[in-house]
Amino acid sequence: MRPYVYITRKLPDAVIKTLKQKFTVNMWDHEDISVPKDVLLAEAKKADALLTMLTDAVDESVLSAGERLKVIANMAVGFDNVDIEAARRRGIAVCNTPDVLTASTADLTFALLMATARRMEEAARFVKEGKWNSWSPFLLAGQDVHHKTIGIVGMGKIGEAVAKRAGGFDMNILYHNRSQKPEVEHKLGAVYATFDELVSKADFIVCLTPLTPETKNMFTIDVFREMKKTAVFINVSRGPVVNEQDLYEALTTGEIAAAGLDVFEKEPIGREHPLLTLNNVIALPHIGSSTIETRTAMMTLCVENIESILTGKPPKTLVNK
Ligand code: DGY
Repeated sequence: MRPYVYITRKLPDAVIKTLKQKFTVNMWDHEDISVPKDVLLAEAKKADALLTMLTDAVDESVLSAGERLKVIANMAVGFDNVDIEAARRRGIAVCNTPDVLTASTADLTFALLMATARRMEEAARFVKEGKWNSWSPFLLAGQDVHHKTIGIVGMGKIGEAVAKRAGGFDMNILYHNRSQKPEVEHKLGAVYATFDELVSKADFIVCLTPLTPETKNMFTIDVFREMKKTAVFINVSRGPVVNEQDLYEALTTGEIAAAGLDVFEKEPIGREHPLLTLNNVIALPHIGSSTIETRTAMMTLCVENIESILTGKPPKTLVNK
């Protein structure tokens, strides 16, 4: 019997062609609706491999249903949606998609920082709504980015790529990370700071840390109060790293100036969410890595990892070594 691969979103035929040549492949037939849990459980029962999205909770129930399951290829660099420990216990390989998304995610992070600092969403809306009556000296005046201090929380590959972009804008670069990185300091002129130092000194606080039990709820009102009143907070990692109620309070009481958010505690964020009522918030629908080239590369890497595991070869990007 050919191994069975289940894919939890509709992906282009061209990308999964090679899987189809070797394996039996089935796919959830929607691009913009997550696979329901009961379908995922039923498919996991039959599957040798699952190609999953960050929206799928690959928890104990899914992993234990998968008696034949050998690999979870998760289409994201983050893998907080997968119970890594449970997979390890069962000998199931978990693969992610690092590297291929680094530059695109750093581009989006920097674009969001720029857009938030320079009030680009407000300004574009202003023109489209026919409110532009005259040039005026402080019309939609934002904050400078160049020569300011960026504080990067989470200096992984994406953090480094953001630091590289910040260097092009003559920014001072602070970073906080679990471990200090002398080679990054040397290469990019970044300076290590404690978390408290970073949040109090940076003009732009950029959160890129993975979601772990240690980073959950890392940004609370106490932390926002430590920031400058002019600080701009950017989050492109995972929503639960931030206490959203506290962020709302910080933004509405003038503790910080603005926020650019690509991720939220609950995704999709509901239309009625208080953060969406604020002019000093730019909210994006978790599109950090979303370019056609990068998303295609992420899918392709998942396909390659599945092929490798199911044919007895080492995968390129194994998480639970
Ligand atoms: C990831 O890969 O973890 C990103 O959040 C997806 O865009």
